[in-house]
Amino acid sequence: MPKPTKRTTAKTAQRNGDRRRSPEIHPGKLGVEVQRFGALRLAPIALSAEARGESAQLLNIILADSMILYAMYKKHHWLVAGPTFYQLHLLFDKHAEEQQELIDLLAERVQTLGAVAVGDPRHAAELTTIDRPPNGAEEVPSMIHRLLDAHETVISKVRRAIDRTDKNADWGSNDLLMSDVLRRNELQVWFISSHLVDVPLVGDK
Ligand SMILES: [Fe+2]
Repeated sequence: MPKPTKRTTAKTAQRNGDRRRSPEIHPGKLGVEVQRFGALRLAPIALSAEARGESAQLLNIILADSMILYAMYKKHHWLVAGPTFYQLHLLFDKHAEEQQELIDLLAERVQTLGAVAVGDPRHAAELTTIDRPPNGAEEVPSMIHRLLDAHETVISKVRRAIDRTDKNADWGSNDLLMSDVLRRNELQVWFISSHLVDVPLVGDK
């Protein structure tokens, strides 16, 4: 076998380099899962693994519910009909956009804690406790009641998570939950519930 010359070595290196830079995709070659859902990475943020793990778990459930709530707003944005069509069509879309912002904040907080954020809507559907709407269209009052129920589900979980993150001194998550998630959901409830004329008065003197 002839001894490789400088010239042939350079040619081989060039070929290997070309192969590394190849834009070809290799279908069927999926990598291994590098961090399973529920597992924690190291995160040097001076917060115990227990606190980070509990926060991530609570945030992921709220994230899953928010993804479902976002989808419900879009569904109602498309399917709404009747005399209030235009204003609700716009309002539902505005709320959907705001939920999408919250989804991003929640997911990035989960990642910041060293956990894996819920990313696939099918995963969110497995985790959520929000009732599934029918695939068909509903009347406006039903849409509104359904949205209010979904918000209350989110809000009750957010309140519990605020309490837990307070006890664990996870102020980053605590602030996000209180300043962004809770307040935005409460505000959206006010806007949506104001469309119902038969909201009962509570504590009337
Ligand atoms: Fe639209």
